[in-house]
Parts: sequence; structure tokens; C-alpha cells
Amino acid sequence: MSTIANTDNWLEIKAAAVAALPPSVVEFIASLEGSVHSESHLIAILHMVQAETGWLSTEQMGAVAQLAQIPLAKVTGVATFYHYFRLQPRGKHMINVCLGTACYVKGADKISQRLMDNLGIQFGETTKDGMFSLESTRCLGTCGLAPVVMIDDQVHGPVTPGEVSLILEKYLKKEKTAPKA
Ligand code: FES
Repeated sequence: MSTIANTDNWLEIKAAAVAALPPSVVEFIASLEGSVHSESHLIAILHMVQAETGWLSTEQMGAVAQLAQIPLAKVTGVATFYHYFRLQPRGKHMINVCLGTACYVKGADKISQRLMDNLGIQFGETTKDGMFSLESTRCLGTCGLAPVVMIDDQVHGPVTPGEVSLILEKYLKKEKTAPKA
């Protein structure tokens, strides 16, 4: 991916910004041209970038700022304010720990702590090997299985702290035995 050019030339800056973003996002920003309140579309733009690429890089935020002509501080401010936006790449497997009331009462905090200890990361982070990202979520609608951990699209529950490493190992084993692309 090209970087935003270190130049005063607007055409070069624009070309680098276009190259840094998915085409659908570039088209959406172009469709907003002339809009007096283009800043109100910022959240929608950032949603689109994240939906396409899984996260928001510094380069992509810079490109959004340039193409939409919104101050970079505003773009990064919105991206860091909303917990929904990811500022790190997603891991291969997304772990969501339910911290809804039913799960919390049944020990979701202990499950969370065990996951953080085993993975060596906090909520919102990704392991160095890029294998797992850890997030918390509200009720997943499966309170009968509390406490619940969702990995990718699979719900695990009820989970005990002792089972955490076994569950993680299952995913790691799957990776090792999966045929190489
Ligand atoms: S509170 Fe966790 S699934 Fe409902």
C-alpha cells in the first residue's frame, strides 16, 4: 500500500490517498463532494473503511482526512472516541467475552482475566502472532449458557476459567492442521 506523499502537490496527495483506501470508500467520499456538512458523514466513512479492511490504520485515517477535507485531528478524534473502531489489525480469530449481566454474575470477569493472562493482551488488542483479538461485548442472547465466550461465529458456554486454555489450544491446533493456502 502506498503512503500519503510527503509533498505539497495536491494531485500527488490525492493519488496517494486514493491508493490507501478501498475503491468503494473513495467513491462514497467523492459522492459527498460539495456537501456542506461532510463532517457529519465521517462516522459512515470510517465504518466503511473498517468493514472493508477490518481496522483503521494511521494511513487510512490520513487518506480519509485528505479526500474528505476534514482535519486529521477530527478523524482520529472520532476513531479513538468510539470503542467500535479498531486501531489495530484484527487477529485471525475474534474472541468476544460477554460481559452482560447474566454472564457477569456467573464469573465473566474471571474468564476475561484468564483470557488476558493466557493471550498476554488486554481488551481491544491482538496477539503478536496475529492469531487472536480480544473484545468484550454485551448480551449475546444466549444467557442460558452463561458465562459465554464467542470465538468467530461459535458460542462457547458455560465456560470455566480452567477451560480457557483448552479452548484456545483447539483453535491453535486447527491452524496447525489446516492446509496451507
Ligand atoms: S448476558 Fe451473556 S449471553 Fe446474555
